[in-house]
Amino acid sequence: MEQYAINGGNPLVGEVEIGGAKNAALPILAASLMTDETVLIENMPDVRDTNILLDAMAGIGTHVERVDRHTVKINGSLIHDLTVNGDSVKKIRASYYFLGALLGKYKKATVVLPGGCDIGCRAIDQHIKGFKALGATVEIAHGMITAEASHLCGAHIYLDVVSVGATINIMMAAALAEGRTTIENAAKEPHIVDLANFLNTMGADIRGAGTDVIKINGVEKLTGGKSYSVVPDQIEAGTFMLAAVASRGDITIRNCITKHLECVTAKILEIGGNVEAGEDFLRVWCDKRPSKATIKTLPYPGFPTDLQAQMGVVLSIADGTSIINESIWESRFQYTNELNKMGAQITSQGKSAIFEGVEKLYGASVYSTDLRAGAALIIAGIIAEGRTEIYNLGHIDRGYENIEEKFRKLGANIERVQE
Ligand code: EPZ
Repeated sequence: MEQYAINGGNPLVGEVEIGGAKNAALPILAASLMTDETVLIENMPDVRDTNILLDAMAGIGTHVERVDRHTVKINGSLIHDLTVNGDSVKKIRASYYFLGALLGKYKKATVVLPGGCDIGCRAIDQHIKGFKALGATVEIAHGMITAEASHLCGAHIYLDVVSVGATINIMMAAALAEGRTTIENAAKEPHIVDLANFLNTMGADIRGAGTDVIKINGVEKLTGGKSYSVVPDQIEAGTFMLAAVASRGDITIRNCITKHLECVTAKILEIGGNVEAGEDFLRVWCDKRPSKATIKTLPYPGFPTDLQAQMGVVLSIADGTSIINESIWESRFQYTNELNKMGAQITSQGKSAIFEGVEKLYGASVYSTDLRAGAALIIAGIIAEGRTEIYNLGHIDRGYENIEEKFRKLGANIERVQE
C-alpha cells in the first residue's frame, strides 16, 4: 500500500508556486466541448479528477490532445455518444458537469450519478430544478440521470441553497438556451467567475458572475479559437498559507489571487500570524503559537469548507479552545479522529467541533478520509514530533499536484513510499 512517510518537526520556509484550480478546470473542460471549434486550455492542473474527466470526454468522441503537462487542446465536433458512464467517472463529483454541457449543446445528456468525496449528502435537486426550469425533462433510473429537451428556453431560477455545482450546470445549459436566464442566489466562488469568463471568450453572454445574480443571454452557438488559462487554485494557496502558520514557518506563495484569500488572511492575522500581500503573491509567517479562534465555513466570500480541515490542524495546536462550525457538509470532521490519534483533543458532533489546543502533535499512522482531510494530515505530520504515515493517498491525488514535492522544497521531510 502506498503511503506518505513524514518525519516531522521542520518549519516550512521558502517559496511555492500555485497551479491551476481543480474546481475551475473541471467545469471549463466540460464546457470546452460545447463548441465544434478547437479550444486550448492552459494552466490545467495535472490531478486525478481532471484526468478522469478528460478520459470521459475522449470516451464520447471528444478529441483531446495533450500539448504539455498543463495544456490541452480540445475539439468536441465529433462527439458521437451522449451517455457518460464508467467506473472512474462514477467516482468524481464533476461528472455531472456533462449534464449542463451536453444538454446545452445537444439538448440531451445521460450521465452516471456523481460520486466524489464522502463528506455528506450530495444532493442534486437544485441542478434538476434548473434544468426543468429551462424546459428539460429529467429522469433518474438505474444509477443514471438523463436530461432532455426539444429546445431550451431561458427562465428565472431562484436557487434554494447556494450551490457551486448547480450554478455552473445551469450557466452552461442556459448559455445555449433561447432568451434570458437569471440565476438568483447564485454561488460566487472564483471558479464560477472563471467559467463565466471562459464561456464568454467562446461567445457566450453571461453577466454578473461573482455576484448572487447571474444573467445569461442565450446564444445560438459557441466558438473556439482563443486559448484560456485556468485561474490559480485558491484552495491550494490557502493550504500552504495554513501550513506556514501551523509549522511556524515563513512561506511565499506565488501565482495566487490575493483577493480570493482575504477571509483566510483575516483569520491568520486574528490568530497571531502575519501576512504580506503583493500583486500576485502572499508571504505568510508565524513566529509564535497561534491563538484560538471561532470559524464558520460559508459559501464564498466566507471561510471555505475546503480549507476547514487545514485550519483544524492549526487550531489543534492553538493556545485555548476553538470552535469550528461546518455549515456546508455534514460529514467533514472525520479527520478529527485521525488528528486525535496524533494527540489532538478534538470533540466533534454533527456539524461542529471543539478544539482544545495542545502544545504538540505526535506522529502516528493515519488515514486520509477525503481530499482536504488528506492535505490537513500532511500538515499535521509536518508539525508533529516523530514519524507519521498517511494512507489512502488516492484522495489527495484527486486534487493536489506534486504536493509532496512542493512541501519537500519548503523543507519538509516527506516521502511517498510503497509499504
Ligand atoms: C463544490 O462541490 C466543490 N467541488 C467542493 O469541493 C466544495 O466543497 C463545494 O463546491 C462547496 O464549496 C467541485 O467544485 C468539483 P455545492 P459541489 O453544490 O458543487 C447542497 C473539494 O474538496 N446542495 O456548492 O458539489 C449540498 O448538499 C470539494 O475540492 C443541495 O442541497 O457543492 C451542500 O450542502 C469537495 N442541492 C451545499 O448545497 C443541490 O442540488 C453546497 O454544495 C446541490 C447542493
